Amino acid sequence: MSELLKPVGEVYLVGAGPGDPELLTLKAVRLMKQADVAVYDRLIAPAILEVLEPQTEHIFVGKEPDRHTLPQYAINQLLVDLALQGKKVLRLKGGDPFIFGRGGEEIETLMAAGIPFQVAPGVTAAAGCAAYAGIPLTHRDYAQSCVFVTGHLRDGALDLNWPALVQPRQTVVFYMGLKSVRHICEKLHEHGMAADMPAALIEQGTTPQQRVYCATLATLSAVIQNAEIRPPALLIVGEVVKLHSQLAWFQPAGAIQAQSALQVGIAVG
Ligand SMILES: C[S@@+](CC[C@H](N)C(=O)[O-])C[C@H]1O[C@@H](n2cnc3c(N)ncnc32)[C@H](O)[C@@H]1O
Repeated sequence: MSELLKPVGEVYLVGAGPGDPELLTLKAVRLMKQADVAVYDRLIAPAILEVLEPQTEHIFVGKEPDRHTLPQYAINQLLVDLALQGKKVLRLKGGDPFIFGRGGEEIETLMAAGIPFQVAPGVTAAAGCAAYAGIPLTHRDYAQSCVFVTGHLRDGALDLNWPALVQPRQTVVFYMGLKSVRHICEKLHEHGMAADMPAALIEQGTTPQQRVYCATLATLSAVIQNAEIRPPALLIVGEVVKLHSQLAWFQPAGAIQAQSALQVGIAVG
């Protein structure tokens, strides 16, 4: 059949969650298994790609923090072109596609081109990382609200409504803030947040490589200075962070290995 006569395919915009494949929804897995081609970003872990059927074509479109392998308009067009070839196209995004994921722009293009699509929400990094770090984002004793903001610097600055972020009994979660931790902590303090407000950086949350650095606004950037943190990383600021010391439950592989080594040491000794 000529390309022009093929029926139009469909795009599945699917949130893959923050890393642990077990956080994929049943809907995400079903759509992943139906796909002819998967278009995916840097944040998609290899373990998640393993859910795809072996015959599914893989197209990596990158998106490094400072370098896009394909610009967003080209990704939008790619989805349209693949669907026009009659394919079932999986657009797989880290976390949730509508939270700092540009999923809205992608489906706007699909809508304009008359391509059918479905959206499967995913566990966003704030929810996944906080849960695996034992930091409830809200808590009756500490926080009645929670805000998600971008920490991505533009021309070395962050254009945020700082007074709105510095509110009592509120948790603030910064996405894309690894390079701006110092700047964020300074700005929050400048706008009235206490220097001893607890703050945590969660590196590669929900994965076997997860590491959690807990400190305060005043000390966090010094604590992480020599830690060689590998992205992605999420910053959580608020009183709830102090619950980590009581509620941390997730044992990433490294920690389990360290613990087992210790136990063996004790048994042998
Ligand atoms: C472009 S945003 C995409 C967010 C995604 N749509 C979501 O809902 O989680 C990428 C940022 O999400 C955060 N992030 C995503 N996965 C993470 C993980 N496993 N651990 C820590 N932070 C993560 C980091 O702040 C990273 O810079």
